[in-house]
Amino acid sequence: MLPWTSLALLVPYVVAAPASTECTGTISSLDDVTDAVKCTTINIESFTVTAGETFSLDLASGTTVNVKGDVTFGYKEWDGPLFELKGDSVTFNGNGYKFDGNGADYWDGQGTNGGTTKPHPMLKVEASGTISDVYVLNSPAQAWSIDNTGTIELTGITVDNSAGNSANSASGSDPAGHNTDGFDVSGSDVTITNSKVINQDDCLAINKGSNIVFSDNTCEDGHGISIGSISSDKTVSDVTISGNTVTNSQQGLRIKSDKSATGSSVKSVTYTNNKATGITKYGILITQSYPDSDGTPGTGTTFEEINFTGGATTVETTSDADMVVVDCGSGSCSGTWDWSDLTVSGGKDGTINNADISGFTQ
Ligand SMILES: *[C@@H]1O[C@H](CO)[C@@H](O)[C@H](O)[C@H]1NC(C)=O
Repeated sequence: MLPWTSLALLVPYVVAAPASTECTGTISSLDDVTDAVKCTTINIESFTVTAGETFSLDLASGTTVNVKGDVTFGYKEWDGPLFELKGDSVTFNGNGYKFDGNGADYWDGQGTNGGTTKPHPMLKVEASGTISDVYVLNSPAQAWSIDNTGTIELTGITVDNSAGNSANSASGSDPAGHNTDGFDVSGSDVTITNSKVINQDDCLAINKGSNIVFSDNTCEDGHGISIGSISSDKTVSDVTISGNTVTNSQQGLRIKSDKSATGSSVKSVTYTNNKATGITKYGILITQSYPDSDGTPGTGTTFEEINFTGGATTVETTSDADMVVVDCGSGSCSGTWDWSDLTVSGGKDGTINNADISGFTQ
């Protein structure tokens, strides 16, 4: 038997109460956010976010968010983002409600290259968990930026920038929407599935990361499904692009690295069961000469194991488009690539330079 004084030393020290409690918080204005994020269930009611402020949710681990009405973002020329999500293992149920970025008020055909200052990205994700059924309407420029902190899945997302296909008084004869990327990914362990993007730029652009799945999505009117552009010192590996449909777009499937990039690599990319139709510039474009499409490639990025396997990918272009262009620098596309499940039709044969491709002829 120990004396009681010794026993007392064994009693665990009582730690401070956890920061979050099992309450339900409700947000119907930005003023409600500070209190609501103390709870692990949060309901978002319909409201308008004050122009020039970020609707920022920095959530306790395991929080569930239920969207219960449309959220509209007030107009102001500033850098954004309009919405920001942080937290581990969060569940964000959009329930099909709209996040309306009022893009048409900003669009001038110049995107983030000039003209009005457009808040971008519209939605910045630095979280892990699941985001489902969010309907993003009219992003001023880029829609989603995924820079996740752990495994994340986005499912049932809509990015509807179809209104940006038309010209307006500021854009001359060009589409008013520009640089309206659907998903810009720079994280690992990301799945984007069952989603739809109608826009005027890349449907998906992977800038870096590994273990990325883009499956069963629909991309309309933009620049297609893209890895890149890859800048210096970036690594992309283990990417699966499967079951997607791309229509009326400049490219179907593309990998692009900056001509000037050094120290970068893209490795192990598999395209399976995708279907592209109405492609107007390049059906498949694998290039190391970006911003040119088919120019003088750099050699500072290696592309390896770029395969079309596991199920038929079909790409149909318009008659003046190039069906396949591979524009690799000397020695920087390595190994043999298996393209036995790729079929292209409709356009001109493009050039394939400095890549060893098996199982495919245009
Ligand atoms: C790609 O194909 C090549 C050639 O068949 C093979 O060696 C490689 O393992 C494949 N990579 C993937 C990720 O399937």
